[in-house]
Amino acid sequence: MTSTPQGPSLDLDLFSDEALTDPFPLYQLIRDTAPAVYLPRYDAWALGRYADVRAALADWESFSSAQGIGLNDLANAATRGMIIATDPPEHDKLRNVLAARLSPKAIRQLKEDIERRADELVEPLVQGREFDAVNDLARAFPISIVLDLIGLPQDGRDKVLGWADAAFSASGPPGARTDAAFPLLQDQLAYLSGIRPEELTPGSMGRAIYDAAAEGKIAQESCVPLMSAYVTAGLDTTINAISNAVWYFARNPEQWDLLRRDPSLIPSAFNEVLRMEAPVQFFCRVATRDVDIDGVPLPAGSRLMMLYASANRDERKWDDPTRFDVTRNPMDQLAFGYGMHGCAGQGLARLEGHSILAALARRVERFEVGEPVRRLNQLIRGLDALPVVVHPAAA
Ligand code: HEM
Repeated sequence: MTSTPQGPSLDLDLFSDEALTDPFPLYQLIRDTAPAVYLPRYDAWALGRYADVRAALADWESFSSAQGIGLNDLANAATRGMIIATDPPEHDKLRNVLAARLSPKAIRQLKEDIERRADELVEPLVQGREFDAVNDLARAFPISIVLDLIGLPQDGRDKVLGWADAAFSASGPPGARTDAAFPLLQDQLAYLSGIRPEELTPGSMGRAIYDAAAEGKIAQESCVPLMSAYVTAGLDTTINAISNAVWYFARNPEQWDLLRRDPSLIPSAFNEVLRMEAPVQFFCRVATRDVDIDGVPLPAGSRLMMLYASANRDERKWDDPTRFDVTRNPMDQLAFGYGMHGCAGQGLARLEGHSILAALARRVERFEVGEPVRRLNQLIRGLDALPVVVHPAAA
């Protein structure tokens, strides 16, 4: 855009250390100011209210992903062709390849194995009484599951997590954090490009991508971006959801008691953790025509930030939104997005989260946590360390 847009505007920095540590007061300000607020630092409009975010996510024809979901041109160019940055018909071809492997039926077949893995991980941690809920629990679990499902060779796996974190942060606004993250996004793409299809475990999700290309269902050059979607989207997101769950239950022991007394609350509790702390804070869309956001007119070409994390705490939608309540059952929370790009892996993420909560509920009476260390990432909200002491449940 060449001229300064007209309309409600706030000169906020959403990416300072302070804002990344606690963005919620700024989200509140955005919600209180207007349905869409122009942020001049990023030449983008922030949508913070639930109804507006959801309505925009539902309308991909007016709010396109194909010009990138980030806040800088380099990352938007580098992620071109990734599923998350496409519109139909390209999007649907890519999504079909993933959908077959992430469908409810496919996920049901993984249930027994993932529940067993959760038990095997949690049992010795609880016996040892003290562990780091991020490194020993939340990271260890999705890494072993997701990388096995993709079928990645063992060589190089140790770097995948750092790359995934950076792949998200690289989509922030131009600046030092983006500059630091961007080369790692390129490293991830170079690593994935170097893997030959036959190195991927036969029958794995990764191999299915290359099979689809061999059958002409997708273009050969879509394989690496699709692999990147799995590797990036399937790790930090679930990792943060699991460590946030421990953090919230440690600070709300009465909610842990409720869940332990009635484990059928686990799906509701997992949604509630995601509502309180959306692991992905936002992705962008670009308006393909002049649009109206609840009375705020925006010209075609405007870039819009879909603030999932703010929408999930919008007082217009949620009763007492900052109260953590495992009985709330917020099935329509927006941490997985909504509409056509709504998280393709949410069945798997839920299975992982539910299995870990169930394994903990059977064994832990109380969590005591030390000071959490926050990991500052421009798109992802989560912890880097969370020391925990557990009080085991009576046998
Ligand atoms: C708690 C865990 C997770 C959260 C919070 C999460 C969040 C999200 C969000 C917000 C989107 C929407 C993007 C948009 O609106 O543009 C998304 C898309 C996606 N997610 Fe997840 N995700 C999680 C776990 C996973 C897992 C485990 C996988 C796969 C292994 C996965 C794969 C994907 C893919 C492939 C997309 C792109 C879908 C599309 O563009 O059509 N996610 N996720």
